[in-house]
This record gives sequence, structure tokens and C-alpha cells, in this order.
Amino acid sequence: MPKELALTRFDTPHVPRPHVNAIVRPHHFFSPEDRRRAALIAGWNVFQFPSEMLQGGDLLSDSGTTTLTLEQLSAMVLGDEAYGSNWGYFQLLETFEKTFGISQKTWNIYLFHQGRAAEHALYSHIGKSGLVIPSNGFFDTTRANAEANGIRALDIPRVRYTKNEIFGGDIDLVELERTLKTHTASVPFVLLTITNNTGGGQPVSMENIQEVRTLCKRYKTSLFLDACRFAENAWFIKRHEAGHAQKSISKIVHDMFSLCDGFTISLKKDGLSHMGGALVIRNSAPLLKHKPQLAEELRDHQILTEGHPTYGGMTGRDIMSAVEGLRHVVDEHYLEGRIGLVHDFGSYLAKLGIPIVKPVGGHAVYIDVDRFFAGTKMKREDFGGISLTALLLLKGVRLCELGAFAFGTYDSKAKKDVLPPKNYVRAAVPRNKYEQNDLYYVADCIKGLFENREKLPRAVPTYGRDKTLRHFKARFRLEW
Ligand code: F0G
Repeated sequence: MPKELALTRFDTPHVPRPHVNAIVRPHHFFSPEDRRRAALIAGWNVFQFPSEMLQGGDLLSDSGTTTLTLEQLSAMVLGDEAYGSNWGYFQLLETFEKTFGISQKTWNIYLFHQGRAAEHALYSHIGKSGLVIPSNGFFDTTRANAEANGIRALDIPRVRYTKNEIFGGDIDLVELERTLKTHTASVPFVLLTITNNTGGGQPVSMENIQEVRTLCKRYKTSLFLDACRFAENAWFIKRHEAGHAQKSISKIVHDMFSLCDGFTISLKKDGLSHMGGALVIRNSAPLLKHKPQLAEELRDHQILTEGHPTYGGMTGRDIMSAVEGLRHVVDEHYLEGRIGLVHDFGSYLAKLGIPIVKPVGGHAVYIDVDRFFAGTKMKREDFGGISLTALLLLKGVRLCELGAFAFGTYDSKAKKDVLPPKNYVRAAVPRNKYEQNDLYYVADCIKGLFENREKLPRAVPTYGRDKTLRHFKARFRLEW
């Protein structure tokens, strides 16, 4: 080996990011008192708080919050805003073929403006009440779309691991088979959310996808993916599942999608775009065999609610952003940097003593609210997770409660809160937006409140406790 190379073959504790800043957004500065006034107007609801005031870090969502690459921005300039068959549409079809290995010849492709619009189309056309869809974990709006159509959204995540604990997103195969046996005729499809947002952003293993596929075949039903974070899921398979290390991310993605009969996707996550979504169904999917008119019904739904099939609900610019985003997202250097940053944030939080969900998933770090308040007088129905997110607003930091309040309901007759099994606060990391220092500041703020956890107030809903999708709409009073 040349001497120069030999001398520089040492490891470094820090690694460079897989990109440099090409455009930045300067902050406007606000005082904690300014933020308190705004938070009171917002009823301490993080969704209602002005994002302009968040100098500390806006980790509310990783959806549609990506900083675009210059390649995406320049592709967007070339966006064709034609009403029919715009130039980008054909490129998007090609990109879908390259990325997922699916072509229009054997798959029905429907474009939508975002993921939930695609879900709404699917769930409102697959049938009537009485259906059951087993899943490793429904995301909140996905569940709402299923339940609004009388469909039972059944979460059966695997709770015990015999093999690789990294794959905390796996579905429980024993429960799945039991469900398929009991409800044979009423399962339109099994849904695997990759990665499992509700379960902690945890990946699903290739082995689990294969086993679900086998069960679906045996019980003559379809396998659908909620594929929002497909590339991050593929990265975990490559890094952590035996037999995949030598494959490219693209090959792993192709393998994952070759096992499914259909998928919904929000292009606002691993599409690296600000808008966009799709519903894709294989011509030979058992779902279409059982309901042959579905493909046409979905096309009509798309035209009635979104637009011509060649743009769905997307502008020509959105389409070009997704074309370039899907090309970039399978880049291993990008994924390594992205998931490395999220994991480094998780390790720092853990080092500060904050109870987080482990192992850390791909897009977010989840704080375990029950353990955060363990030993204090805070009860689950005091919504400590809401108080934590409310007080962080004063430090210019926004996280999202995904726990007792977001996933709980209120039984008005019994005047009682119905509490969900998981109680988390999520710090979702937008793609290509923040650096290590930003995330360490967020962690330091969480630590400041953790040290004062005995003194944190209860969050009392003053509006919306009994409403559906209440976390988006509610208002609170902090009670000391
Ligand atoms: N499925 C999953 C797993 C999601 O995480 C989301 C959105 C959707 C579907 C819906 O997609 O927003 O384009 O309509 N998740 C965002 C989040 C909102 O913050 O986790 P969408």
C-alpha cells in the first residue's frame, strides 16, 4: 500500500455528513415569553404553534419536511404543468420501475397528493364493515381511514424476539395465522408498515415479510405494504439481517416489493419530497380477484377527487421532486448518514439518562413517557407526554405526543379515558435538515425537563377530549 494511504488509515470518532449545506434558512429570534404567549393562544397544542418560533428544532414530523437536494430543485424547474400526460409522469413511471421493480404492464398505479389520500381511496372501496385488516402497526391516519369505513384495524406486533431484536417492526406470525384462520373470508389484505411508525419506527425483517407472504398465499389473501419509509427499512435489512450485506439497497427494495400484492406510499418520507403519494396494486392481487371492479372504481375515485391519472393530486414540480428523490433515497451513503444521525441522537439521549425506546428505529427517537414519569405522581390520564411537548415549545423545540392522548379515546358515557398500550413522545428527524449539534440541543432541553420531572404539570384537555383524531384539534390547560 502507498505510504500516504497507510498513514491515513486510522479511524475517527466523527464522520462527515453525506452532503453540504447549499441553501440555508436563517432563524428569526424569539424570547421564551414570546413563545409562551403563542403557546397559550395555541392552547398548548403543538400542531397549532407557529413553526417560525422554533429555533431549537422542529421534530414534529419527518413528513414533507425534507430539505431538498439541488438536483431535486433543478428537476422541479423542469416540471411540466400540462393537464394530461405531463413529461414528468413518464419519468415517474420509469423511476417506479427502477426503484420498486414494478411496471404499469403488471401493476395499477394511482397517484395522489399524499399518502392518506391514497389510503382513503383504498379503504373506502375495498368493502363494507365486517372486514379485518391485521397489521404490525397502523399509523394514526391509516387506522382512522380503515375505521371510518367500518373496517377493524388489528395491530398484532411481535412482542417477543427469538432472533434479531433490531427488527422490532415484525408482525406476530402466530397471531396472524390465528386471525387468518378465524376470519378467512374477511381479511382483504394483511398490512405491513415499513418501518413501523407507531411501534417506534422499527424495521420489518425480510424474513418476516417472506413469512407473511407465505401465510397470505396459504389463506388466499393479499399482502400490502404501507411503504412510506421503504428505503430506511431496506438499510436495516442490509446492515442487520443475515444474508443481505452484499446486496445493494436497490436489490433489497426490489426483493421486498416482489413479495407484496400492493402498497400505499407517502412520497413525503422516503420520496424525499414535500408532497405526493401513490396506491399501487398488482394485476394478479387476490384483492382484485375477489373484487374485479375495484381497479376501475379506484380510477374513478382518483379522477373525482384528485385529477387526471397522469398527475393525480401532484403538480408537475412535485412529480419531478419525487423522481429525483426516489433516485437519491436508495443511495447508501445518504442512508448511512441519515440513520447514523438518528442513532447518534438516540445514543446521546440515552447517555443523558432519558428513557427511550430501544433499539432506535430509522426516522425518529421515541421517549417512553411512562418510564420518564416513573416514580412521580403523574398518572397516564394526566397526559404527561402533552405537558412535556408543551413545555419544550418554550425552548423553541417541537416534538409530538404519540401516546395516551393521541392514541387514547374518551368514553363519554363512563366518563373515563381509554388508554392505549403505548405511551410515547416522538422526536422525528426531518431528512437532510438538522445537524448533530441541533439534535444535541433538543436532547439537552429534554434532559432539563427530565431533571424537573417531579414538578411537571398535568395537561387537562379544555377542548377535544371526546373528539375523533383529537390530538390534532385539542386544547389544553397546564395544571400545577
Ligand atoms: N403511513 C405512515 C406509516 C405514515 O407515517 C404516514 C404519515 C402516512 C401513512 C400518511 O401519509 O402524511 O402523506 O398522508 N406520517 C406522518 C408522520 C404524518 O408524522 O409520521 P401522509
